Amino acid sequence: MVRFYQRTPIMKLLAPLACLCLALALAWAEDLHASAVLDRCKGLEMDAVAVNEEGIPYFFKGDHVFKGFHGKAELANESFVELDEHHHLGHVEAAFRMHYEDEPTHHDHMFFFLDNKVFSYYQHKLEDGYPKDISEVFPGIPDHLDAAVECPKPECEEDSVIFFKGDDIYHYNVRTKAVDEKEFKTMPNCTSAFRFMDHYYCFHGHHFSKFDPKTGEVHGRYPKEARDYFMRCSTFSENSDHVERERCSRVHLDAITADDAGDLYAFRGHHYIHKDEGNDTLLADTIENDFKELHSEVDAVFSHDGHLYMIKDEHLFLYTVGEPHVHLDGYPKPLKEVLGIEGPVDAAFACGGSDIAHIIKDQHIYDVDMKATPRVAGNQRPISLFKKVDAAMCGPGGLKVIVGNHYYHFESVMLFIASKALPEQHRVSLELFGCDH
Ligand SMILES: *[C@@H]1O[C@H](CO)[C@@H](O)[C@H](O)[C@H]1NC(C)=O
Ligand SMILES: *[C@@H]1O[C@H](CO)[C@@H](O)[C@H](O)[C@H]1NC(C)=O
Ligand SMILES: *[C@@H]1O[C@H](CO)[C@@H](O)[C@H](O)[C@H]1NC(C)=O
Repeated sequence: MVRFYQRTPIMKLLAPLACLCLALALAWAEDLHASAVLDRCKGLEMDAVAVNEEGIPYFFKGDHVFKGFHGKAELANESFVELDEHHHLGHVEAAFRMHYEDEPTHHDHMFFFLDNKVFSYYQHKLEDGYPKDISEVFPGIPDHLDAAVECPKPECEEDSVIFFKGDDIYHYNVRTKAVDEKEFKTMPNCTSAFRFMDHYYCFHGHHFSKFDPKTGEVHGRYPKEARDYFMRCSTFSENSDHVERERCSRVHLDAITADDAGDLYAFRGHHYIHKDEGNDTLLADTIENDFKELHSEVDAVFSHDGHLYMIKDEHLFLYTVGEPHVHLDGYPKPLKEVLGIEGPVDAAFACGGSDIAHIIKDQHIYDVDMKATPRVAGNQRPISLFKKVDAAMCGPGGLKVIVGNHYYHFESVMLFIASKALPEQHRVSLELFGCDH
């Protein structure tokens, strides 16, 4: 090949192009390499974890960050440009979000620790004067940290930050800057730590333990697999208990519905949960197993007249409610043809016995009269309470709207649309599925 270039003038012209192609191919291969290596479903040890201002967890690994519970790694410097201007510092070793309302200068700032420096970001913008030495901002706290997590009152005695290095633990009082060195005897060395929904998690390897931030005590059966609870993977570790995992997972649901008998079906990624109305027994299985045609990752499900209407992208799959769930001939059909609306949609529900199906798409809700032919999605109304609804279900008790880890209860669809204030927050894992933490 090389000889060929040298002989033919045209090839000489092409040679730089070939170089460019090679460079591109190499860059591509590198990229591929990075994302292949950084598959969090294969079990990664994260360097740092912190939630952002909106409560979305950011998992840091090397140059990369994983946002939320699923999705690919992004380069950390795309979100936090300045991390790269100090390249010699290496990668993020520890991170936390300051979350103390009576500490207005730092409230909701994200702090990143690299080597001996600390970076303070507010809404992804580096604060003036940062990075600073860790010893300047957090006197008494060592460099080269392993992990950090905020601990507000009364979960800690004072508004604090807990820092981890090896098996050393430091409680840093945000107000007085006093440092209290503690020993958490039974807890493993944390490589990252975070506070999520008022619980404290220490990650070590690709496992985690929930701990008491005051004493460091670990109660219950830990360590557990981080993938099972904080990541949305198509397959899990071999000995993963499907029921326990799905019941307690912090990953948001895709869809949920109850059939006419009150049995509940909740879908998440490749799995679903079935709760029997009669005896509250919870079963978990793969979607593939019981709804083969659907395979996984459904957008919305509602039940009507003995059938489960399951929506995925632009298609509608129709199953019978009884077991085994039979997929009706001629389906999937285009969603537009069956319900008169274009996908993708966010959530769908029908209130027990009613012939009206409600579809939520972006920040609007639509009604579809199931008795009409052809069916149309009409009566569009805006939803003011939520930016994005993950799933919704309706039954004799009213409407449950699920957003992230929480659900909200409304007496009726009308009240949901008319409400100006958020009702009480309920926890999906605890109150819907009976997870004990
Ligand atoms: C971000 O980081 C990557 C990998 O370390 C590097 O190749 C790239 O040049 C960086 N981008 C910026 C804008 O600094
Ligand atoms: C925990 O960290 C200490 C150093 O602070 C080290 O001596 C010990 O071996 C570590 N334990 C484990 C299990 O890695
Ligand atoms: C509860 O319901 C499930 C599903 O219908 C059934 O398989 C199971 O036997 C029931 N358990 C009890 C204790 O009745």
